[in-house]
Amino acid sequence: MTRAHAPGKAILFGEHAVVFGRPAIAVPVHQVRATAEVSDLPKAPAGAVFIESDATGTRAWLTDLPEDDPLRRVTQSTLERFPAADRPAFSIHVTSTIPIASGLGSGAAVSVAIARAVSQHLGQPLTTETVSALAFDVERLHHGTPSGIDNTVISYESPAYFVRGQPIERIKVGVPFDLLIGDTGIPAPTAKAVASVRRRWEADRETVDRLFDSIGDIVGRARTAIESGHVTALGSFMNENQTLLAEMGVSSPELDRLIDAALGAGASGAKLSGGGMGGNMIAVVTPDRAQAIAVALLEAGATRAFATQVGP
Ligand code: MEV
Repeated sequence: MTRAHAPGKAILFGEHAVVFGRPAIAVPVHQVRATAEVSDLPKAPAGAVFIESDATGTRAWLTDLPEDDPLRRVTQSTLERFPAADRPAFSIHVTSTIPIASGLGSGAAVSVAIARAVSQHLGQPLTTETVSALAFDVERLHHGTPSGIDNTVISYESPAYFVRGQPIERIKVGVPFDLLIGDTGIPAPTAKAVASVRRRWEADRETVDRLFDSIGDIVGRARTAIESGHVTALGSFMNENQTLLAEMGVSSPELDRLIDAALGAGASGAKLSGGGMGGNMIAVVTPDRAQAIAVALLEAGATRAFATQVGP
């Protein structure tokens, strides 16, 4: 049996604006992950693939799934890189602790875990670049116009400064800092949030472009702060970024409630993370306040709150 994992991700700054060419910063989140296990099926005909995913309830032979099914797509594009002859039949079992449609990159993580596990099982692990490209292809299938930040950060497992269409720029974290991640428990497909921002942009490009530019400016300042270890500045940058995201219409009452609770309990800054309209929020916290802020998040309705450290 061959097993591969992929972490979740959190966007610290720049979601949505990144779809429109501005930079963004994201980090891997190792406390949650997708796992793919590949096992030989000696009794099945050569080349057959059976897929089982606990998260989506899928249990099917690969070729019985719709052609645009993400599990089928990533498996097939991985297999295209291997000669068909003599390929043993195998099964893929996918599990994930990353909630679906929550802004933590569950779709990209499942794709990355599958591409890694299948290629390793067939004796030739794909490069990180290729794994990321395969996962991007699947993101495109369902998100319309993804920036590529999710597949990039999840494949490279590194804090990253990302600009659409450009290679990853890894960020060196000057001084590690702590985040709390709180889940509204409300699933919100990224495609829906991205489409709503696009509609706003099409209706009033000048205003929305100005919001994107302001976000891009925050991302630049945040990068400098992260790299030089001035982590005390990050909280106010997050608050600024959240104000702009709310103006863009992608916050929600539930997100606002968790953000207010985190700030009220002593977080230095907080914002939604990912597509918004539900899903997760993040807060920059100091270790002495982390426990109290996690309790405040749960009391304000978070279905889950957990800590992660952004480090080198
Ligand atoms: C999703 O994690 C982040 C968005 O900016 C969409 C994207 O970058 O593709 C909302």
